[in-house]
Amino acid sequence: MKRVVFNQKGGVGKTSIACNLAAISAAMGYRTLVVDLDVQGNTTDYLVGDIDADAFPAEAQGVAGLYRQTVGSRKMRKNPDSFVWETPYEHLFLLPSSPVLSEMEKELESRYKIYKLRDALQKLNDEYDRVYIDTPPSFNFYSKSALIAADTVLIPFDCDSFARQSLYSLLDNIGELQEDHNPELEVEGIIINQFNSQARLPGELVAELETEGLPVFKTYLNSSVKMKESHRDHRPLIDLAPSHKLTGQFLDLHTELEKAAARAAA
Ligand SMILES: Nc1ncnc2c1ncn2[C@@H]1O[C@H](COP(=O)(O)OP(=O)(O)OP(=O)(O)O)[C@@H](O)[C@H]1O
Ligand SMILES: [Mg+2]
Repeated sequence: MKRVVFNQKGGVGKTSIACNLAAISAAMGYRTLVVDLDVQGNTTDYLVGDIDADAFPAEAQGVAGLYRQTVGSRKMRKNPDSFVWETPYEHLFLLPSSPVLSEMEKELESRYKIYKLRDALQKLNDEYDRVYIDTPPSFNFYSKSALIAADTVLIPFDCDSFARQSLYSLLDNIGELQEDHNPELEVEGIIINQFNSQARLPGELVAELETEGLPVFKTYLNSSVKMKESHRDHRPLIDLAPSHKLTGQFLDLHTELEKAAARAAA
């Protein structure tokens, strides 16, 4: 089961959601792979801290290493798993990002490498029970590759009126990609993040989405400073604060996702 977390709007919670759902999935015993396709590398930093760049030459590592070999000699190709890192958390693995991804993008695009991530992840189908893909805040080569590679897309929504406007162009872009490249891709749902039940606007915005028939998950994620602490300490919430309210909401959301996946598979 491969899920991509995508919204072309920045700062809506893609990284926070991908990493925390993945960490819960791993804590439940699923072998879980996180793929960091954002050149900012926030997921990589969140899960494994700052990496010594000299010890780990970026172009040979992670997503960049995986793509690098698609433009190199065919004889030298390694199994995609050799680019995967362990994390400090049991059952949780990472295909890290790298700053070189931004230089590589034009070449990969011009050489039609848009299906290579899908092919690589298919080779790992037996290795990982769950895959979560974090994407950059733009509809670029990497996020398109992720939407082509994934079974479903999760859309974080941060409850402001600009977010609502951009949601429609986002759904149009996803629709076009489904039509052209991945008809099987399912919009699994919209995740309400940084919800503030005291204010009127967020509740109204979410009610409008529901009225329009958009698939909104029942569990909303509140805003909490614990999230920032969790990023700072490089510890997902399930590890840093297992009894915190926001962690409980992530657990509920994870249960919702797994139940829906089980129903779909039945
Ligand atoms: N539920 C939450 N409560 C409090 N802070 C949050 C929550 N979700 C996200 N944040 C904070 O909002 C900021 C943006 O979150 P995050 O990096 O996950 O978003 P993103 O969509 O991945 O951003 P980008 O588009 O830059 O990749 C971070 O500082 C994060 O700590
Ligand atoms: Mg991010």
